[in-house]
Amino acid sequence: MKTILLAGGAGYIGSHTAVELLNAGYDVIIADNYSNSSPEAVRRVEEITGKTVKTYEVDIKDTEKLEKIFQENNIDAVIHFAGLKSVGESIEKPVLYYRNNIDTTLSLLECMEKFNVNNIIFSSSATVYGEENPVPYTEDMKRGTCTNPYGWTKVMMEQILEDTAKANKNLSVVLLRYFNPIGAHESGKIGEDPKGIPNNLMPYVSQVAVGKREKLTVFGRDYDTKDGTCTRDYIHVVDLAKGHVKAVEYIFEHKGTEIFNLGTGTPYSVTEIVETFEKVNSLKVNHVYGGRRQGDLPECFANADKALKVLGWKTEKTLDDMCRDSWRWQKNNPDGYNK
Ligand code: NAD
Ligand code: UFG
Repeated sequence: MKTILLAGGAGYIGSHTAVELLNAGYDVIIADNYSNSSPEAVRRVEEITGKTVKTYEVDIKDTEKLEKIFQENNIDAVIHFAGLKSVGESIEKPVLYYRNNIDTTLSLLECMEKFNVNNIIFSSSATVYGEENPVPYTEDMKRGTCTNPYGWTKVMMEQILEDTAKANKNLSVVLLRYFNPIGAHESGKIGEDPKGIPNNLMPYVSQVAVGKREKLTVFGRDYDTKDGTCTRDYIHVVDLAKGHVKAVEYIFEHKGTEIFNLGTGTPYSVTEIVETFEKVNSLKVNHVYGGRRQGDLPECFANADKALKVLGWKTEKTLDDMCRDSWRWQKNNPDGYNK
């Protein structure tokens, strides 16, 4: 069976992907420095699947230590989740973001070349479509102008990976552009565990519901959208994780670079998220309407046809599932992995 290295695999999306890969029969190795995650997440992945995961506590930028992992294991493919992802923090600390996100990518590519590993799947983002492109986004659109350094790191890393695949004809690159992952594994054992005050909508909503935050501020109600609040393509993290399994199956049959949107194709507004969360979980989320957040696009959603056509992947879970599963995780783990 094939062995997949998950760089940054202890994080939110990586841990859910580890579960789906293990369930599909792959061997999984996780390399993470736990800067935004916890070894407890990996322990729970093992609990859910009944399988063991080899782990390395390592900074992926540290090429020497990374080489050891490639030396000790026969790696067939890499999935590169390791990155810093807070838009606001990236504006305050651009150098930290450029250094971490780009150097992790370069170290992985160097080691892969040295050890003749020719398959890499990269966690990209819908943010690369920038401000210019019209929704719904299709993969053939040009990358746009980002509003923050985090987004630019994704644009740059996509370019780096594409250039490397052009130069090395053996290399296969799959760029997965995620839309807005929310939800959690239905066991309630793994989920999103943001450190400090959450930046993203769903963890904020669930922390208000559990009593950790007083109220949600909805950023802007004067957009040209169905109810005046921004719309996004929210995708259940387990559907997203299954998209990675499909990408792994695909990558071994393919050379060059291929891009896939991983989204549902259906946008929901902030108000719809709050109302659905309240409805399916029979509770109230204290919220107020405030001003716009700088840099937010009114609408962002995918055309998800290519992933269906080429990978045979489509989402199965509903918005109700996303809200129910987010809440189960939050309720069972009010302090995340710190119990
Ligand atoms: P996460 O923070 O939960 O996971 C990232 C993991 O990478 C963490 O476990 C962190 O400790 C690790 N990491 C970071 N820098 C590292 C380094 N130098 N060495 C080793 N490990 C390192 O985030 P996530 O939500 O699981 O996101 C995974 C990837 O998907 C990221 O690259 C992110 O930018 C991208 N992405 C996320 C979203 C989203 O909304 N969650 C959307 C689009 C793209
Ligand atoms: N929102 C609120 N209140 C909050 C938090 C968010 O109203 O407290 C709103 C935002 O204004 C936005 C929507 O909820 O309209 C979603 O916001 P998120 O921060 O959850 O998600 P974004 O779409 O802004 O950002 C996500 C990823 C980024 C990625 C970006 C573009 O988190 O990594 O999509 O693809 F860059």
